[in-house]
Amino acid sequence: MSVIRCLKPAFLLLIFISLNATAAEYRIGFSQVTTTEPWRVLFNKQLRKAVKQHDNVELYIADGQDRTEKQVADVRVFIQQKVDAILIAPKESAGLVSVVSEAMDAGIPVIVLDRKISGDNYTQFIGGDNLAIGRQAGQAALKLLGGKGHAKGNIVEIWGGMGSTPAHERHQGFAEALASEAGVKWVVERQDGDWKQDRAYDIMSTALRANKKIDLVYAHNDPMAFGAALAARDAKRFKDTYFLGVDAIPKEGGLWVKRGFLTATFVYPTPGVKALEQVLKLLNGEQISKTISLPTQTIDKDSVDLYLKNHK
Ligand code: FRU
Repeated sequence: MSVIRCLKPAFLLLIFISLNATAAEYRIGFSQVTTTEPWRVLFNKQLRKAVKQHDNVELYIADGQDRTEKQVADVRVFIQQKVDAILIAPKESAGLVSVVSEAMDAGIPVIVLDRKISGDNYTQFIGGDNLAIGRQAGQAALKLLGGKGHAKGNIVEIWGGMGSTPAHERHQGFAEALASEAGVKWVVERQDGDWKQDRAYDIMSTALRANKKIDLVYAHNDPMAFGAALAARDAKRFKDTYFLGVDAIPKEGGLWVKRGFLTATFVYPTPGVKALEQVLKLLNGEQISKTISLPTQTIDKDSVDLYLKNHK
């Protein structure tokens, strides 16, 4: 039977003891940056379900509590316990490089998920194509603001964590798509919302006070796009603005598009199921590639019904 636990810091000792005691053929440690955001909850749920199909696998999920130091400590416990493989979904790209190297030096393969780490000392990276997501968001903005060569409007961009690669890539793709539009102006360009709805609400409230006209908000995830939409609603300016987010979880971003809170969102697939498939291949002696990129899709009022029907 697969045993899966979601662990808080006080239980690090428990991980230590239980990992030693287990008899499973493959023991996998997963350092998940946080377990409170809906996208993370779905990610863990899908991964746990996939693990249940394998009697010979035990998965331990350590909650990083949105802190790099906690993730470093969790990975160190996994190394001490000599797990067979480590999965890590990092908070940011710089601070986890050395602990991942420690694991690799100890001969434990590490699969990095969703947010990249600097350098290339890891076994595999699996994640969504954030540059493509940024480009699709930029194309959507272009269309909403008047079309290629004619686009006009004031944009607020709310970044996810500045230290994370998805935020930089989502920005880059978006900026590229709008680069030659003289009529498009960023009135807020580099505000870090750290992926959080409440932070985005505050950023948008300030932006609304400072700018009479905001035509489009591009937030790097749906919770932040929703937070910005709520701020606009509370300021009685919701109808003036288009809101673009990223993730498209059916019961969150998908529903917000359906209900008209968001103009569009872009699918950001969770990488857990793919990660398990790859780890098992690796542990069974097969070669795996260095990078796996997961596809995206635009969800707007035209595609949302079918999307929700197919993703119940
Ligand atoms: C969840 C999340 C998602 C976002 C991803 C980027 O923690 O903020 O909403 O797409 O992380 O790494």
